Amino acid sequence: MDFSRETFLKHLAQTTASPYLISVERAEGIYLYSPDGTRYTDLISGIGVSNIGHRHPTVVKAIKDQLDKHLHVMVYGEYIQSTPNRLAEKLSTLLPKNLDCSYFVNSGTEANEGALKLAKRYTGRTEIVSCRKSYHGSTHGSMSVSGNEIKKLAFRPLLPDVRFIHFNELDDLDNITERTACVIMETVQGDAGVRVPTRQYMKAVRERCNKTGALLILDEIQCGLGRTGTLFAFEQFDIVPDILTLAKAFGGGLPIGAFISSHEIMKSLTHDPMLGHITTFGGNPVCCASALATLEVIETENILQHVETKGKLFESLLSHPKIKEIRRIGLMFAIDFESADMVSRIVEEAKKLGIICYWFLSHPNSFRIAPPLTITHDEIKESCASILQAIENA
Ligand SMILES: Cc1ncc(COP(=O)(O)O)c(C=O)c1O
Repeated sequence: MDFSRETFLKHLAQTTASPYLISVERAEGIYLYSPDGTRYTDLISGIGVSNIGHRHPTVVKAIKDQLDKHLHVMVYGEYIQSTPNRLAEKLSTLLPKNLDCSYFVNSGTEANEGALKLAKRYTGRTEIVSCRKSYHGSTHGSMSVSGNEIKKLAFRPLLPDVRFIHFNELDDLDNITERTACVIMETVQGDAGVRVPTRQYMKAVRERCNKTGALLILDEIQCGLGRTGTLFAFEQFDIVPDILTLAKAFGGGLPIGAFISSHEIMKSLTHDPMLGHITTFGGNPVCCASALATLEVIETENILQHVETKGKLFESLLSHPKIKEIRRIGLMFAIDFESADMVSRIVEEAKKLGIICYWFLSHPNSFRIAPPLTITHDEIKESCASILQAIENA
């Protein structure tokens, strides 16, 4: 085994000057284990991925079963394969009628790229409306519609014809017009520090899109798959998007994303030009097996039913004078402190106590908690005691 820090820092491309640097030998449920036996409680689910915990046995079995049948056999969209078929069918039973056609891709950012291209192609329009402070991914298109100006500056020029509105502000909706191909928004903004819109706002967005003919893309890459207490967050706002994007927790630990729409809208990627979006590995059968098993686990283990109670328990236990504000929906939390510096110190202190928490990309004075939804009440109590200790120590 090679857990050399030097190799990691020298031969693996780095994304920050201060990576988290714990060594992981194995993971199970809500825990990660280092080679020296140290156990860490993963309160961030690998950033929104392990909603049903690490290596859920049903998921592991489904992956192994698929390994025994076949791996990649052809690029997306050509061969009929049982597992992607079953996954697409399962999704269509879980989603509203107009979301009956899935395009499987490799990541969240690719799901959004596909969704944006689809909206432009279907409407014949070019303008994209997005929200300030949003995060939709790190490739050029998704970055163009993300809100963080500092992150974008070094990579300009980006996509033209992107207009930004303030999230959850009714007055700004007039910016959606007959020129607009689509509005892309996170149903609950994640990296902005968990911003939950009002039902009134989301209904008004839907109405404005209906009125102008703009398609509504809801990005549930972070807030989907049970994180907010319902399988899809949009269910809580009584609206339905024209295109839904998923990734992260969707794959149960393997990389898969999807953009999902109606058969009629999706058809526009097949002609003039054909192959409107293509991907070699999209719909990889092993990833589809893992995703299908994840959906089955969420259903059969009644995971959604307990999310709100667990969220409330966390919230009631996390009381400390240094906490300025807690924003929460389901088991998705942003906890505000006085400064980004204080948050970094708390994250470091928590790590020493075996608790993994994190900050937010675009809101560094918030502390992120998004544990596996399978966390037990006792584990929540233990974790909160350690978090409070970390806050004291910081
Ligand atoms: C809301 C949202 N959209 C898109 C993405 C991009 O997903 P990926 O990192 O899989 O490309 C993320 C990742 O954090 C996200 O939180």
